[in-house]
Amino acid sequence: MSDAHPDPVEPTPAHQRENPEPHEQQHFPSLLLLFLCSVLVFSSALYLQRYSGNFDPLVYNEEVQGTGVAAGSGAAAAADPVVVGKKLYVQNCVTCHQATGQGLPGTYPPLAGSDWVVGNEEAIIRILIHGLTGPVKVSGMDYGSAAMPAFGPLGSNWKDEKIAHVLTYIRQEWGNKAPPVTPETVARVRAATANRGKAWTAPELAEFHESK
Ligand code: HEC
Repeated sequence: MSDAHPDPVEPTPAHQRENPEPHEQQHFPSLLLLFLCSVLVFSSALYLQRYSGNFDPLVYNEEVQGTGVAAGSGAAAAADPVVVGKKLYVQNCVTCHQATGQGLPGTYPPLAGSDWVVGNEEAIIRILIHGLTGPVKVSGMDYGSAAMPAFGPLGSNWKDEKIAHVLTYIRQEWGNKAPPVTPETVARVRAATANRGKAWTAPELAEFHESK
């Protein structure tokens, strides 16, 4: 073995000049971190315990009626049709009829103060299920340049409850005052019009609504 190639295991002068491996002198910061993590885990658990609703899938389900879990008590509370209906309206109708229920002049008719909305429920249930197309008079103004989409089987395929809730909402919002629409009535109208394969026109609904 020559001096030009020293055995790497033997400490060389260079090794001997090295500083010793550093040691952690101060344990305080890591203890503090551990403590903070524990607090975080503990408070997360407390939060879930309080707000998870026992991870019951029905807690926030708008489709289910009468099984809402009241906080803490576990007692059943019926979902308010107007509250559910408003949510449905905001998600599905505002683009055309607007949040104010005023529609857009000449294109989308108003629901606020509409003689259709507060009139015979038979007409608006049919309009929601199958849609409406062609000329229509709403509160004295003419519309017909656009069509009202179907929310029944020809369109979004809503269940009776959803149709009833959104109609109940528009009949009681913006100063409108008309009785609620029940899912049972929607079911009856749905059955009676089951053979219908296209949107209604205003004249076809004249037996339920005389356009003024
Ligand atoms: C794509 C736009 C559009 C959407 C979305 C829409 N509508 Fe309509 N709606 C119309 C149009 C257009 C008419 C008039 C149809 C015609 O001229 O024949 C109408 C008519 C109506 C009417 C009867 C006339 C009146 O003004 O009172 C009601 C009631 C109604 N819509 C309720 C709703 C509800 C409730 C929703 C949501 C679930 C909804 N519409 C979603 C466009 C829309």
